[in-house]
Amino acid sequence: MPEIKFYAQKAVPVEMHKVKIVQQLNLLPVDERVKKMYEAGFNTFQLHNADIFLDMLTDSGVNAMSDEMLAGMMKPDDAYAGSESFFRMNNKLTEMFGIDNLLPVHQGRAAENVLATRFVKPGNCVIMNYHFTTAKAHITRVGGHVEELISDEGLQSHSDLPFKGNIDLEKLENCIKKETPENVAFLRLEAGTNLVGGQPISYQNMKDATDIAKKYGILTVLDASLLQDNLYFIKTREEALKDVDTREIMRMIADLFDMIYFSGRKFGFARGGGILVRDAELYHSMEDLIPMFEGFLTYGGMSVREIEAMTVGFEESVNMDVISQAPQFIKYCVDGLVDYGVPVITPAGGLGAHLDAAAICSHIPQDQYPAGALVCALYICGGIRGMERGTLSEERNPDGSERFASMELVRLAFPRRVFTLSQTEYAMDRVKWLYDHRDLIGGLKFTHEPATLRFFTGKLEPVSDWPIKLAEAYKADFGADQ
Ligand code: F0G
Repeated sequence: MPEIKFYAQKAVPVEMHKVKIVQQLNLLPVDERVKKMYEAGFNTFQLHNADIFLDMLTDSGVNAMSDEMLAGMMKPDDAYAGSESFFRMNNKLTEMFGIDNLLPVHQGRAAENVLATRFVKPGNCVIMNYHFTTAKAHITRVGGHVEELISDEGLQSHSDLPFKGNIDLEKLENCIKKETPENVAFLRLEAGTNLVGGQPISYQNMKDATDIAKKYGILTVLDASLLQDNLYFIKTREEALKDVDTREIMRMIADLFDMIYFSGRKFGFARGGGILVRDAELYHSMEDLIPMFEGFLTYGGMSVREIEAMTVGFEESVNMDVISQAPQFIKYCVDGLVDYGVPVITPAGGLGAHLDAAAICSHIPQDQYPAGALVCALYICGGIRGMERGTLSEERNPDGSERFASMELVRLAFPRRVFTLSQTEYAMDRVKWLYDHRDLIGGLKFTHEPATLRFFTGKLEPVSDWPIKLAEAYKADFGADQ
């Protein structure tokens, strides 16, 4: 259901589900939140969930499950080897993607580990529309490097282009020639491109890019973790496919790739993952890595309950009533912020609303992590937890200098079917307040900086007492109790 029409009121997105189980939330007073932020080392990954009002960190593993998914969890087949739950999952994926061979893994990055371990040799290149943190970390861990060839417009914060996740086809062909086809381990296209604001790739672009790869004998891999959002955008934005059923679109996409992997924490709305491998020989060449890293080949580190829930979740991932909800809420949020003048990534994508921290905090130097500072400020001013997607999420260059991100974003994720429109309104209101008080936000510096994936476990501190001053201004407007 792309949009429900209204008679006497301005149309708003309408949920196509009702609430049956809820979790109580807690809004700590602002001074408490300042304390928690210091304790968390100005890293929102280090906060405790009980101290958070709206957890918009991610949609990973925190989407609401349906009654049908929960019902599926009541019939798992527990077995170390040969679990029927696994075969049900495999059959469902084969039916939907037309690929027989499934390697189960405990989550998306485990699939990335297996693919990098099997296919990437030192000096190899992996070509992508854009990287994802864990995908890149696994490739560089085994000595490979990543070429990101997203179209130039993909990195423009504000535009009305419908498919900003598209790869630049000319750059792709040039890159293959420069690297030589033998040195390209695989082409990885990421649906719903995460780090550039959940922006989709068009079917046509996937087709053209995979055609080029095939011409040079290069393996093609789809990261389908955010495919459900991408399907929604193809259905609503790609003229040639507007009358094609989402299930059919999904099958057309699948037909383009040699391998498809996914995080079941996103695609399937549960917790797990998998790699679909078209060619049986290729599948067998990776088989041994699953028992080594994940668990036996019929559970791959996943709970059989999750496998059952996910198997139902795959169906929901192609149901327009289900997959329309998050993009519509995100658009509502993005439109409201744009109207107020807050710089956000446009057009609205999937996954979440993305605040343009480089523009909002233009007074903070990039080596003081403007997006990191903004995300901490938003927790202080509202109890909302977002995620930094900027320089802090990058790794340093080999010489120790900062690798500045091409975009400094704060992501407010919309886990599927979790938040209501009034909670969305609250989040928007606090962002607007913070935007009007942005001069009070200051930079951050590391006190503990891990070499790899530093954004997860690093600790930082503010460069001045700006969090205290920000909280004072907040109290003056809202009182000390919220
Ligand atoms: N690929 C994409 C596009 C992702 O967004 C993620 C995870 C992964 C792979 C890795 O999957 O978490 O199951 O290991 N994204 C999460 C996020 C972490 O918050 O965006 P995973």
